[in-house]
Amino acid sequence: DAGHYDTGGYEHYLLKEISEQPETVARTLSGRIDERFHVSHLGGLNMDPRETRSFRRVKIIGCGSAYYSGQIGAQLIEELARIPADAEPASEFRYRNPVVDPDTLYVAISQSGETYDTLAAVQELKRKGGRVIGIVNAVGSAIAREVDGGVYLHAGPEVSVASTKAFTSTAVAFALIALHFGRVHDLSPADGRRICAGLRKLPEQIEEILKQGDRFKELAEKYAHHPSMMFVGRVRGYPVAREGAQKLKEISYIHAEAYPASELKHGPLALINPELPTVAIVPDDELLDKNLTTLGEIRARGGKVLMVGHREPEADLADDVIVVPKNEIELDPILLTIPLQLLAYHAAVALERDVDKPRNLAKSVTVE
Ligand code: AGP
Repeated sequence: DAGHYDTGGYEHYLLKEISEQPETVARTLSGRIDERFHVSHLGGLNMDPRETRSFRRVKIIGCGSAYYSGQIGAQLIEELARIPADAEPASEFRYRNPVVDPDTLYVAISQSGETYDTLAAVQELKRKGGRVIGIVNAVGSAIAREVDGGVYLHAGPEVSVASTKAFTSTAVAFALIALHFGRVHDLSPADGRRICAGLRKLPEQIEEILKQGDRFKELAEKYAHHPSMMFVGRVRGYPVAREGAQKLKEISYIHAEAYPASELKHGPLALINPELPTVAIVPDDELLDKNLTTLGEIRARGGKVLMVGHREPEADLADDVIVVPKNEIELDPILLTIPLQLLAYHAAVALERDVDKPRNLAKSVTVE
């Protein structure tokens, strides 16, 4: 009951919601993993296996952080189900008279279920005969009522304007959807088992990250006086970088840019100097060496680097490193996001911002 929802002893709703993520992720997973066949059960999709197999593409729409979680979702669907997938801001999609394709599954993401641009995009899709499912937190909300089926996050009320627990739960919901689609396509039982085991590990791994609490505060205080920060990541790390930059901008008002690490040399490398630190998302995946090369390029221009990854780099490539527990490479983005939420939170507190109600923003944008 949102009426009885208080900060529960935390200084801000935001810190409470960040800290709740072991439980909220567990709730998104609850009852949805089949231990025997390494599949997910998502009854709310209202889709039989034949229909599940029939989609040739997946198009994901949402606004702001919902859109960035959709980018993580697109990557998961492509990797696990090998179905072409991409994400687009719902606010753009609805205005560009998109081609609505009967072989595409449309996925609308919304924590509140009331975001007007996302709702209008869903209505336009339905008008043109598109098949739309929702990933929504607020039960019975406008978007939840409009879609043909979907997945509820069960993350509980999210009060703070900046989305945190809904973001991670959305990524988890996408992993379940990707598993569902993957197991009717080519995802092997062994890979299904690997992903199921990885999903089950997430709550305790989030707990481990949260235990490093003071470290995030120290680092945030160290970097918060910079007027601007760069966030970089490659492929799975890129939406994480975008979300990290978004969180920092929203609640601390520090300017932040997010770029794919590979794009730095095509322009933004010109910005790098000792005054512009970079937060680099460096998972231990097949792109590790490429990411470490990028760190070298930044350091060679005098840029400070705060690396978020799975181990300390061997060479002196980062000024500071946040190490998070390793999961399966496909699921790593979920865990890599959490330190960025905490950095933004502590930066906002250090700068005495109105953490839960940042200026100029509303929790849900119900107007055009
Ligand atoms: C997230 O921190 C933002 N406040 C914002 O981008 C938000 O994610 C967006 O407005 C979408 O909201 P929704 O999930 O309720 O549709």
